[in-house]
Amino acid sequence: MEELTFANILENNIYKDRDVLFSLQPPTGFLHRIKQKNELVMELAPVLMNSPVSCIFVYGNPGTGKSALLLDLVGEINDEARKRKLDLTTAYVNCSESRTETSILLSVMSQVNPAKEYPKMGWNRAKTLDEFNKVMNKEAKNVLIILDEVDYALRESGDDILYRLSRINNQVKSKVSTIIISNDVRVSDYIKPRTQSAFGRIKIIFSPYNSNELFDIIRERVKFALQKDVISDNVIRKIAEIEAGRGGDARKALDLVDACAKIAVAKKKSKITIDLVEDADRSMEENSVLNIIASLPKHQKILYLAVLKNEKNELEMDGGEVYRNYLELCESYNVEPLTERRIRTFLINLSEVSLIEAEVGWLKTTKKKARKITVNLDKALRTKADKLLRSSI
Ligand SMILES: Nc1ncnc2c1ncn2[C@@H]1O[C@H](COP(=O)(O)OP(=O)(O)O)[C@@H](O)[C@H]1O
Ligand SMILES: [Mg+2]
Repeated sequence: MEELTFANILENNIYKDRDVLFSLQPPTGFLHRIKQKNELVMELAPVLMNSPVSCIFVYGNPGTGKSALLLDLVGEINDEARKRKLDLTTAYVNCSESRTETSILLSVMSQVNPAKEYPKMGWNRAKTLDEFNKVMNKEAKNVLIILDEVDYALRESGDDILYRLSRINNQVKSKVSTIIISNDVRVSDYIKPRTQSAFGRIKIIFSPYNSNELFDIIRERVKFALQKDVISDNVIRKIAEIEAGRGGDARKALDLVDACAKIAVAKKKSKITIDLVEDADRSMEENSVLNIIASLPKHQKILYLAVLKNEKNELEMDGGEVYRNYLELCESYNVEPLTERRIRTFLINLSEVSLIEAEVGWLKTTKKKARKITVNLDKALRTKADKLLRSSI
């Protein structure tokens, strides 16, 4: 590998404006989302006529444009409200950051009532609810609440927040509309029937992008992000195909473009070629595996090392075997071991983050029947994983 200087980076002939690759708003608007946009406009229009809409439910896999499109629409609806001199306030809450009913309501209040300072936490539920009702009763406003990544809140705190919002208009003067967005398409499993009836009505689905759609999205983006002729249509098509096969995530597709561009700069190339895409893809895959490993808690690291200890890729294990390896390692690291039961739940966790493949049904029961645990890392990555684990336990 060649040595790089800052001048190499600044004078590279690959990037024009790297930030465009990561911006939430696409440079020339959304592609292939007219149907979803129209549905949302149709459903949200009553808000501009002083009548609240309850419970629009938007869902789709990550990277399908939900957050970006909704935030864009929030801008549009606010503009239109201003033109019509309608009193509308919008509150956007990311529920991966605010996961409880209390913290969600606090976040909404701080946006609806910015004159007052609200703490991020520390208020109990009763006080928060009381203040929420006060704020929503103060004057008759139109309020549009968007709960993004609501699956986090539902999984952790149940559906009380949705139940409350679905009834709110009977209780306060303001007219409160709610949109919920979920990355997890099975989200309705977390919503109790009493709330489902209110939230199940209007569903807008963001399906994964196919390779033609990803092609268009990438092509439009690179016009602004990369220099002219750095990437050909053939190479864009290759990237689009890779990502379409993996779940049609536009963000991942743009990340892969960036990884290719970075390698091109590092190698002082003037073009992104197909073999460079393969390199970039491999190194991204490796990095994501290593990042997952690095973020495991200590005992799960030891456990994973215990799984990797076996030379072969496929382990025929009787449940106790991994545990015996684990006990040995604990001893050599001078760590107090956990029970076999705990370790079994950790194995489920490792299989959920795809570090191992195992039959979860077996992992959940205490039956010690022989089943396979498979590790899908190639030899080089295995060595890196092993090294990382040993140096970080
Ligand atoms: N239809 C589209 N046209 C252009 N860019 C898009 C489109 N859909 C998604 N993107 C881009 O992909 C990235 C991820 O979108 P995002 O809205 O965060 O997805 P989600 O919220 O569904 O996970 C953003 O950079 C966004 O600009
Ligand atoms: Mg999102």
